[in-house]
Amino acid sequence: MSVATPAPLHVPVLLQEVLDNLPLPPAARILDLTLGLGGHAEALLAHCDPDSRYLGVDRDPQARGLALERLGSDPRLTVLACAYEELWEDAAFQAWTGVYAQEGFDAILADLGVSTLQLRSPQRGFSFRDEGPLDMRMDTEHGLTALDWIAEQTDESLADALYQYGEERASRPIARAILRALHEGRLATTRHLAEAVYTVIPREAAKRKGLSDPATRTFQAVRIAVNGELERLAAALESAVKALRPGGRLAVISFHSLEDRIVKQTLRRLAGIYDGPGRLAPVTLPKHLRLLHPGGIVPGEAEAAANPPSRSARLRLAERLP
Ligand SMILES: C[S@@+](CC[C@H](N)C(=O)[O-])C[C@H]1O[C@@H](n2cnc3c(N)ncnc32)[C@H](O)[C@@H]1O
Repeated sequence: MSVATPAPLHVPVLLQEVLDNLPLPPAARILDLTLGLGGHAEALLAHCDPDSRYLGVDRDPQARGLALERLGSDPRLTVLACAYEELWEDAAFQAWTGVYAQEGFDAILADLGVSTLQLRSPQRGFSFRDEGPLDMRMDTEHGLTALDWIAEQTDESLADALYQYGEERASRPIARAILRALHEGRLATTRHLAEAVYTVIPREAAKRKGLSDPATRTFQAVRIAVNGELERLAAALESAVKALRPGGRLAVISFHSLEDRIVKQTLRRLAGIYDGPGRLAPVTLPKHLRLLHPGGIVPGEAEAAANPPSRSARLRLAERLP
């Protein structure tokens, strides 16, 4: 009898490209801002010597638990419960860097967004494909659930969020449909949220035209808003650059254009490239970084076919200048 292999909880994306581009010298100091299930961590640690140290950060208790199950016996790894935006003021982070990374980090990785585990766990409420509570928090111990967040919105603020974070063109009627469902007591689960969207953009019509599920953009928008995913990304990347030693490298993987735009603009600004209005005016920005692969690296055909969630990924890399 053949036994089906269980699907992996999360396949690390652009793994070879991350390994090829991050420096791992003897006694390397590595900061992983989004440890997740430790896929990148496992591979990076396999290339590090025994004197190296790896600090893995994640705000999701379930992810940290699974990463510890996978890698917890490795004495080089420390796992920290924190949101990366808040890391720089965190006492445990400061204590760790005071002991192990006074000179800065050789490599910092940020693999942004959600893991497959989060997306595929119905009880986490991230996906319209399975019925689950409207939660969507990465940090299940703090903050408003998606339902609580929606309940605090007006038609206008919800429409703005759907437009800004989901690039949803039908944001206004969808916002009205969602709040109507809420006020009529029909909004408790992921399926209810998806159904509110389908009252505005019928699912079958989208399917017939070969378009993605109409609920995709709304779910992305609510998830980004609930987790504050874009608000402090630029500031966190700037702090990460400061935490690199000269010659150290930052690798950032993003999964949608809104995120990638912030990553690209922040790295370009820190590389001294002026993108603002009035391009002709001579503007001198301090140059902290050298950009590597300026257009970013995207998965090859083989990776995209083997791991479909990787298709929208883009890796951007930069090196800290002396
Ligand atoms: C794409 S997964 C990382 C997967 C990981 N590289 C691996 O190979 O297993 C992103 C992870 O980042 C975490 N995360 C997202 N935003 C975060 C934030 N602001 N602070 C800390 N962790 C965050 C999520 O909880 C999730 O576990």
